[in-house]
Amino acid sequence: MAHKHKLFNGKTLGILTGGGDTPALNSSIESIRNRASLLGYKVYGIRKGWKGLLGEGDVIDLTYQPYDGYYGGTALLSSRTNPFPTSKNPESRVPQILKNIERYGIDVLISIGGDDTNGAAKRLYETEGIKVIGFPKTIDNDLRTKTMHEFGGNEIEAVLCPGFPSAAKAMMELTMHLRTTAESHSRIIVLEVMGRDAGWLTGSAVLGGAELALVPEYEITKERKDFFLETVKETYMRSPKKNLILAVAEGVRWYDDKKQDVDVVYASSEVDEFGHPRFGGISGVIASDVSNKLGIEARAQISGYYPRAGRCRTYDRRLTATLADKVVDLLLREDYGQMPVMKSIVPFPKVEEFNTSSIDMGSIGNKPLPDAYYDIQTFTFTDAYKDFMTHILGVPEIKEFKYDFPVVIPKK
Ligand code: F6P
Repeated sequence: MAHKHKLFNGKTLGILTGGGDTPALNSSIESIRNRASLLGYKVYGIRKGWKGLLGEGDVIDLTYQPYDGYYGGTALLSSRTNPFPTSKNPESRVPQILKNIERYGIDVLISIGGDDTNGAAKRLYETEGIKVIGFPKTIDNDLRTKTMHEFGGNEIEAVLCPGFPSAAKAMMELTMHLRTTAESHSRIIVLEVMGRDAGWLTGSAVLGGAELALVPEYEITKERKDFFLETVKETYMRSPKKNLILAVAEGVRWYDDKKQDVDVVYASSEVDEFGHPRFGGISGVIASDVSNKLGIEARAQISGYYPRAGRCRTYDRRLTATLADKVVDLLLREDYGQMPVMKSIVPFPKVEEFNTSSIDMGSIGNKPLPDAYYDIQTFTFTDAYKDFMTHILGVPEIKEFKYDFPVVIPKK
C-alpha cells in the first residue's frame, strides 16, 4: 500500500545474470533493484541466467530483501544457457522462456551479461517483443560500449564494462606480489591472464609492473616468436635484479615448433552452448619455450579465476550505481532494447549519470584492444593504454626494495 502512487506500481521487473561471473554482479543487481523498487516495481531475480526461465522456472523475490552489493559474484547464480538452438542443444527454448515470463508476470527484463547473454536478450526483444534492457558485464572488458577515451588530442574507442575495474585491480596487485618471488629466484614468471579474445585485462598486469605482454589480438607466428624470445632475453639481461614478468592472455595464439602451426592452448575440448571452447595452459608452453631456448629459469603462473573472484572494488561500485541510474532513465522513457554505457573514460568522481548514454543492443558485440593501446614492436602496452587504465585504477604505486650491497672480498 505504501507505494500506491509510484509510477510503476503493479509492474514487475526481472533481473538475470548470465555468462562468467564478475566481482561487480551483486553490485549491479543491488543498484538496479534499489532504483526499480523506488519506481514501484516488484523486483524478481531469475536464477542461473536464461536457465531460470526454463521448465517450471527458478525465480526469487528481491523486493524487500537485504542485499550485499559489495560481495563478489552473483547471488542470482549464472549459467551459459542459450535460449536459441545450437549444435549442442538443437531445440529452441524460446517458447518455454515466453511462457515463464508470462507465468511470473514479468513486464521488463534486465539481462546482465556480455555479448552472449545480451545478444540473446536483444534477439528476444526483436523477435518476440520482450521488453529488455541490457546491462554490461565482463572481466574481459571486450563488450563494445562505445566509451570514448581522449588521449593526446585523439579520440580512441575504448570499452568500460562493470567487473573489469575490480578484476584489473586484482590483477595489478597480483603482479606486484609476484615480483618478490621472481626477484628472489632471478626467474622469469609467465603470468597467464583470462581473456579469450582480447587483451584488456592482460594490460592491467603491465600496470602492476609486468615488463612484456602478449595479447590475443596479435598472433605469434614463427618469426614473431623468435623476435619475442630475443626481446625477452634482452629485457631480462637489462633488468637490474635479473627477473621478469611476462603477462600473457589465455587466448594468445603461439607458434608450436612441433606442429609447425600457430594455435591457442585449450583447457578442454568441450564447448559451451554459445560455441566457446575453454582456454588455459599457454603460460606453461611459453615458460618451457623460454627455459629451453634461452636457458633462463622460467615458471608459469595461471591467475585463472583470481581476478574474477572477491569483492567489488570502489570504481566498480560507483560504475554499477551510475549505470543503474541510467537504467532508471531508460525505464522512465520505456526505451527498451538499449544498454546503458559510460560515454567517455572518466576518473572516479566523474562517474555520474550525466556522463552516461545508452547504445542499441543491436550494435553490441566484441571489441578488441584498439591498435593505439598495444605496441607490437615492443610487446608492451602504450602510454595511451596506461592513461586509460589510470583513469580507472589511479597511478599504481609499485614498491621496490632497491639494494646494492657491497660485495665482500675474502682476505686470502
Ligand atoms: O567471462 C569470460 C571469461 O572470464 C573468459 O576470460 C574465460 O575464458 C571464461 O570466462 C572462463 O569461464 P568459465 O571457466 O567459468 O566457463
